[in-house]
Amino acid sequence: MPHQVTLVIGASRGIGREFVSQLSRDPTHRVIAGVRKPVDFDSSNVVPILLDQSDPESVTRAGTQVSEIDTLIINAAIGADEYLLSTDDERLREYYDTNVIGPLRVVRAFLPALKARNTRQIVFISSESGSLSQQINAKGGFRGPYAVSKAAGNMIVVQLHNELHDQGFTVAAIHPGWVATDMGNATGPGGMPIPESVKGQLDVIVKLEHNASATFFAWDGSIVPW
Ligand SMILES: NC(=O)c1ccc[n+]([C@@H]2O[C@H](COP(=O)([O-])OP(=O)(O)OC[C@H]3O[C@@H](n4cnc5c(N)ncnc54)[C@H](OP(=O)(O)O)[C@@H]3O)[C@@H](O)[C@H]2O)c1
Repeated sequence: MPHQVTLVIGASRGIGREFVSQLSRDPTHRVIAGVRKPVDFDSSNVVPILLDQSDPESVTRAGTQVSEIDTLIINAAIGADEYLLSTDDERLREYYDTNVIGPLRVVRAFLPALKARNTRQIVFISSESGSLSQQINAKGGFRGPYAVSKAAGNMIVVQLHNELHDQGFTVAAIHPGWVATDMGNATGPGGMPIPESVKGQLDVIVKLEHNASATFFAWDGSIVPW
């Protein structure tokens, strides 16, 4: 039995891929990499599984393939800087289906695997854009429908905490900072290197204690206001 099992959702590129890379450097760690299309991770302790969090059947199928997880990192999302008043219903539904209902589907599907172990950590990769107080008068970054979806994701963290904390679960959100991924580069150059953000986020996850459930962290360990 491997020492630690972590499932990373949205592992094909960007922050998710770097989570897989850094976690798999520990040979005792088993990493399950949730991807929409096959990816070769070239590492014996990485097991890819196909999972599209916008597709209920895909999530349910993936859930049946995993029996034990210590830590679930829900990282997959879509994002751009758009204005809410010029976002049509279809686009808003796409945001909600991917960034809000998708993560919840994932939690439901992998709850038995999380309950099979005692660690029971659920980590949502959130965004400062989902912080109500930080969005007031925001002049840049990803605003509009992305921010609305990330704020809803934050409330899911709090509600899951309320429903699961007594069963030994720790549910937390992490803002990765502004990171030079496909998504982060959409606002221009200047995002931090991906390994730096992920190293900081993994430090937060390693130190995550049960009584820190329902906390919104930044990648550097500081606290972000909900
Ligand atoms: N980069 C930043 O500056 C920044 C800042 C704040 C928060 N974040 C958050 O950090 C997380 C990772 O962002 P990133 O910058 O690494 O983004 P990214 O480079 O755009 O990568 C997004 C990842 O999510 C996957 N994905 C998208 N829709 C999916 C779906 N329906 N089902 C499964 N996987 C899906 C993508 O898979 P495919 O390759 O198949 O498309 C890809 O692996 C997101 O939650 C984002 O909101 C990022």
